[in-house]
Amino acid sequence: MNANEFLEFCKWAGIAGASVGGAVGVYRASRAVYDDIAKRILYWKDAQLNLAGKKRRLIESFIEHDSNGMLPVIYDRERGIFLNANTNAMWDVVSSRVNQAIDEQMRPIREKIYAQQRVLASMAGLKPNTTTQAILEQPEQIKELPGMIAIADLFRGTRPTINNLVLGVSQGGTVTRSLPLLMHTLAVGSSGWGKSKFLHSLIWQIAQAQEPVSVVLIDCSGSAFNCCANWDKLRYPIARTMPQASAVLCEILTEIARRRELYGQYPQVENLAEYTQAASADLEPIVIMADESTAMLGKKSPIGGELGEISQTARQYGIYLLIAGQSAKANLIDTATRDNFTSRLAFHVPSNSSAVVLDDRRAVSIRERGRAWAALWGEPELLELQTPFVTKDELIAVMTTGAAANTMPAPAQPEQPTGQDVVELWESLPEKTIAGFCRALFPGRPAAGKNWQRAKVLLEQENLL
Ligand SMILES: Nc1ncnc2c1ncn2[C@@H]1O[C@H](COP(=O)(O)OP(=O)(O)O)[C@@H](O)[C@H]1O
Ligand SMILES: [Mg+2]
Repeated sequence: MNANEFLEFCKWAGIAGASVGGAVGVYRASRAVYDDIAKRILYWKDAQLNLAGKKRRLIESFIEHDSNGMLPVIYDRERGIFLNANTNAMWDVVSSRVNQAIDEQMRPIREKIYAQQRVLASMAGLKPNTTTQAILEQPEQIKELPGMIAIADLFRGTRPTINNLVLGVSQGGTVTRSLPLLMHTLAVGSSGWGKSKFLHSLIWQIAQAQEPVSVVLIDCSGSAFNCCANWDKLRYPIARTMPQASAVLCEILTEIARRRELYGQYPQVENLAEYTQAASADLEPIVIMADESTAMLGKKSPIGGELGEISQTARQYGIYLLIAGQSAKANLIDTATRDNFTSRLAFHVPSNSSAVVLDDRRAVSIRERGRAWAALWGEPELLELQTPFVTKDELIAVMTTGAAANTMPAPAQPEQPTGQDVVELWESLPEKTIAGFCRALFPGRPAAGKNWQRAKVLLEQENLL
């Protein structure tokens, strides 16, 4: 591309106006530096994005990696084509030809750029349909997160993956975590502030991810998961009662024991990725989502023991807990239990719950639905997030449904509970878990929960050991 072509290109791309005159001027002054088209465009980006740091970071975080980092001009390196998303014209670098008709391959990229523009415009307090140019020229800092971000707007043209789950949008841009980095997650919020939607937004992503993953859903008091009842990624039917929740969690503990055994064959293996590599075999990650369930973490909960055990041991076996609920009072969730949850979000909650979950009271003043303060692993500061909004129809549309092949595991009774295996498994469990297990099994006999030796005797009496 020669100098004239470059100027023509700038004109076509809408970057030759007064706000970017400098870019063209400097290009003329030291053309040799900008030999390579990518460098010129990057230079343009530098000149154009002469913005306050926060806004600039925000904009950059929205830009596609495989584009050349430009708004509104997108560069398809493979084909040597630039797309101006504002005018829908394409510029072919090789032939220097402009084509006004956008082609199929560019369409999803353009859709994504449009979506990003909408999010940016709303963050910058501009009207919808504002062009990127106007966003870039907005002098003041971005003031506020938008009140609503449609999930589809964050994903246009890209497929969700469990390696990059979107949690929400912060002032710094989209906040994502891979499933192993998200690890166990605790989300609290008073009724009606967005907990279930947040779980839905993750289900929406997991449903479309191509990686294998299986999901366990527990909701003993609400109906948030009803629309997922026939989802083919469910490991069991939705657990809707305490005995069912107990049965599925016991089965998960058995799965943890099975995985522990499998890992045992490879001394170096410490996590799912390493196991998959060492054994050349796939073990699916399992995500356990429990809505309206923070009370289950408490000491008095019949399944508190199982949840505690899972939160302590499961993550290295690729099994992750995501628990949402209304309350996280200190008498319900102690610090040790809380600290097993490495990602913690608080939607609008009373002060004591905010303090327990975040060590900070700022979730009290949240006034937007779907807004949360998050303490995320590896993040030194709390992050304010607007979590994505997903409608039930959108959720249903992405979920493939399966036959009712899954059946609920038998209620919390070990199958054929005799023999060495069971005794070994039993003895490998912490006393807390055994006590919880016995409480669920013998609800009328509280003594069983207090002392595990007595619980064992009780089990023996019942011929269960
Ligand atoms: N991320 C969000 N963005 C915008 N509005 C939301 C969001 N999440 C929830 N809401 C609004 O709040 C209502 C309650 O959300 P929901 O997730 O059911 O709350 P909870 O489970 O905490 O009781 C929703 O029907 C919706 O109108
Ligand atoms: Mg809910």
